[in-house]
Amino acid sequence: MASHKIILGVTGGIAAYKAAELTRLLVKNDFDVQVVMTESASQFIAPLTFQALSGKEVLTSLWKNNTSNGMSHIELSRNYDLIVIAPASANFLAKLTHGFADDLLSSLCLARTCPIAIAPAMNLHMWTNQATQRNVSQLQKDGVIFFGPDSGEQACGDIGLGRMLDTEELFKSIKNHFIPKIFKGKKILMTSGGTIEMIDDVRGITNLSSGKMGTAIANAAESMGASVTLIASNRKDYSKNINVIYVSDVRSMHDEVVKHINDHDIFISVAAVSDFKPKEKLNGKLKKDFIGISLQLEPTIDILKEVGLSKNKIFKVGFAAESENLIENAQKKLKTKNLDLIVANLIQESMGLDDAKISIIDKNNVIDVPKSNKIVAAKVILEEIARHMSMGK
Ligand SMILES: Cc1cc2nc3c(=O)[nH]c(=O)nc-3n(C[C@H](O)[C@H](O)[C@H](O)COP(=O)(O)O)c2cc1C
Repeated sequence: MASHKIILGVTGGIAAYKAAELTRLLVKNDFDVQVVMTESASQFIAPLTFQALSGKEVLTSLWKNNTSNGMSHIELSRNYDLIVIAPASANFLAKLTHGFADDLLSSLCLARTCPIAIAPAMNLHMWTNQATQRNVSQLQKDGVIFFGPDSGEQACGDIGLGRMLDTEELFKSIKNHFIPKIFKGKKILMTSGGTIEMIDDVRGITNLSSGKMGTAIANAAESMGASVTLIASNRKDYSKNINVIYVSDVRSMHDEVVKHINDHDIFISVAAVSDFKPKEKLNGKLKKDFIGISLQLEPTIDILKEVGLSKNKIFKVGFAAESENLIENAQKKLKTKNLDLIVANLIQESMGLDDAKISIIDKNNVIDVPKSNKIVAAKVILEEIARHMSMGK
């Protein structure tokens, strides 16, 4: 059975062709999609394309009814979970704002009983026009959800705001809409990726952390309603709403954590932080004839321990990547660093990989999570954090 039922409203704009790809993605991911097009939309792309992709007749007219009582403009939204208008033309925004109902799509929007999300797509000057902006702010007040618009090169050659979100982004936004917002109102501070401690101006001590787990947790937390600040050393595939602060070494990661910690409810330390750094960083690039020199190392600051032992009431989650005695070492770390939860994983089963086999440990229990993709594991970790927090830790 399809997971969620969506009415996809397509209006008249160049980006209408992207709605075909969106339909394909939605159907492929088990959404039940009913496409409704405006007359102008049919000038840009044929209804047949959507019919083939959605497996359903595309509805285009108020006067050609497919319900027994002839009231499909009212009946339609009763059976659906969400209306998505993509692309939403400037004209359609105006109609929606003022409650016009002069075609099937606008009528069913007015008669809707489900939420509505719109993905605007128009020329920069149409978008920034005062009339459109007035409509947007009224629609936001009315509880209409906005997906985008994005900024970038437009079909007309202008560059700026007004582009429809990329299809993948739009699909993610629709999917996220259905994820329960269990972290609504919560602020999560996270670290992710490996650090690098410079030896000279070009070389450094680092590790194989890919940042995949941190990315998965940050994106999942954001989709669950959290406001996320991520202090990261690598990657770029973070959800747009995440506040990402890029750092490279332990000192800068530490300083950013200290700067933000008091303002957050949860701290999740996923970063593989270097335990050592060269006692002295050399200037320039070491020459080959330096071969044979020994590198003097000293310990770095233990960020997690500092946060754990602080008086801060923040919910503290650490990661333990071990090569042996996994559970024992993680339990020791949980205690000495005064954490609420620790996620343990064997380096050889997780570092740099897409999958991980993790154990989630608190002071009483060990939950073993079967090997899974990090995106799935991230969700399990966050649900466990939410469960602990609702129990008052
Ligand atoms: C070639 C062409 C491209 C257009 N592209 C857009 C667009 O990207 N966004 C938009 O808001 N209107 C665009 N329009 C104008 C709309 O198609 C027009 O306002 C139409 O009345 C919208 O009807 P609808 O809202 O019922 O679909 C375009 C018009 C033409 C002729």
